Amino acid sequence: MKSRFTALKGVADVLPPETGLWRKILNTAGLVMSAYGYEEIIPPVIEQTELFLRSIGDSSDIVSKEMYTFTDKGGRSVSLRPEGTASIVRAYVEHNLPARPAPQKFFYSGPMFRYERPQKGRQRQFYQLGAECFGIADPAVDAEMITMVMAILGRLGLKGLSLELNSIGCKQCRPAFRERLREFFTPRLSELCPDCQRRYEQNPLRILDCKVERCGEIRKDAPLISETLCQDCRDHFASLVGFLEALGTPHVFNPHMVRGLDYYTRTVFEVKGDAGLGAQNAVAAGGRYDLLVSEFGGPETPAIGFAAGMERLAGLLRQEAAAPGPALFIASLGAEAATEALKLATRLRDGGTRVELGWGGFSLKSQLRRADKINAGSVVIIGEDELKSGKFKWKNLKDGSSGEAGREEILKQFSRAE
Ligand code: HAM
Repeated sequence: MKSRFTALKGVADVLPPETGLWRKILNTAGLVMSAYGYEEIIPPVIEQTELFLRSIGDSSDIVSKEMYTFTDKGGRSVSLRPEGTASIVRAYVEHNLPARPAPQKFFYSGPMFRYERPQKGRQRQFYQLGAECFGIADPAVDAEMITMVMAILGRLGLKGLSLELNSIGCKQCRPAFRERLREFFTPRLSELCPDCQRRYEQNPLRILDCKVERCGEIRKDAPLISETLCQDCRDHFASLVGFLEALGTPHVFNPHMVRGLDYYTRTVFEVKGDAGLGAQNAVAAGGRYDLLVSEFGGPETPAIGFAAGMERLAGLLRQEAAAPGPALFIASLGAEAATEALKLATRLRDGGTRVELGWGGFSLKSQLRRADKINAGSVVIIGEDELKSGKFKWKNLKDGSSGEAGREEILKQFSRAE
């Protein structure tokens, strides 16, 4: 069938059973984050363009190339949000939330928009879940945030993840690093891509995450920010590492990581998935941004946050386990049996058990094939004989056990058996 309309490039529908995975991710993350004291915030998906220029930075790829920006009917430049942090900081300052006792902790989820070249794990409309914590500079909060992210991923049953960490300094030590970088790139300036030549002037840190291959080669021996951190930043990072060790959270120091958004100070981190995700293997990422609240007009307020990509999380989950199927599949033969099956299913469903029906008209064989395909936990078979005897055959498709039982017993056995 040829559809007259298709979704835009890089913009995908999320269909069942994928939606079940998404629901599971959101529910699990919500449970973990509320145990850590986070409350939900729902910011808008559209903001003044200026908000993103001032936070993510106009030298970043996101702002300079990837934003969905347009002029609205009132002549204002507006953009679809490419990420959530800027909006949440705006809301935090706009609603005077700094007046509330610190820390203030928020979680969010929703679609984000970046006009990137679509590939596996990279879309133009993608969905993030994230959290932001305002008001505490103590590295224990960095450790808490990172541990919470790892707890969400662990609770989802994801394995083979690696947590990478770095510190990218503060307003005291970053200028010296910027100068060292400029010195390093000066003799190679003409070899850099045109974007990096601009970045050299605006913010040479951005050269460190340019995706052009040649720029990657040129920067191989560039100075590392860890070499120019001030004592306070060194102490902060050492203390974070100490907390993570005490908590038993495995981590790897990655001195090359700078992240692609301008607002970060000190701690930055990324959680990478395994090779099955392809080149786009960062499932979650975040860091500290101690200057952004004051840059948006609020009081000086340290902050830290993270965001995870739903498509990438769902991709990993899909690799780990087959989508969960119904607890019970009821196969029936003939109209009378189909009515009995429907009655049984309705009673079980009323009690919250997920039940699928085989619908009469199809052979028993094809109904059982479908039960297998949709990964049902058990099947119950209702045919003429079963109707006569009042005993239904059941089989657990996971452990192979089987038997016969009357209607009430079946109801008892499969009540909320998921
Ligand atoms: P980010 O690294 O730009 O950080 O994005 C976070 C996560 O969103 C990535 O690790 C990835 O899983 C997912 N993601 C990003 N772009 C795409 C895309 N085009 N398609 C699919 N998934 C994508 C931020 O957005 C920061 N706001 C995180 C943060 C919160 N930092 C502090 N607080």
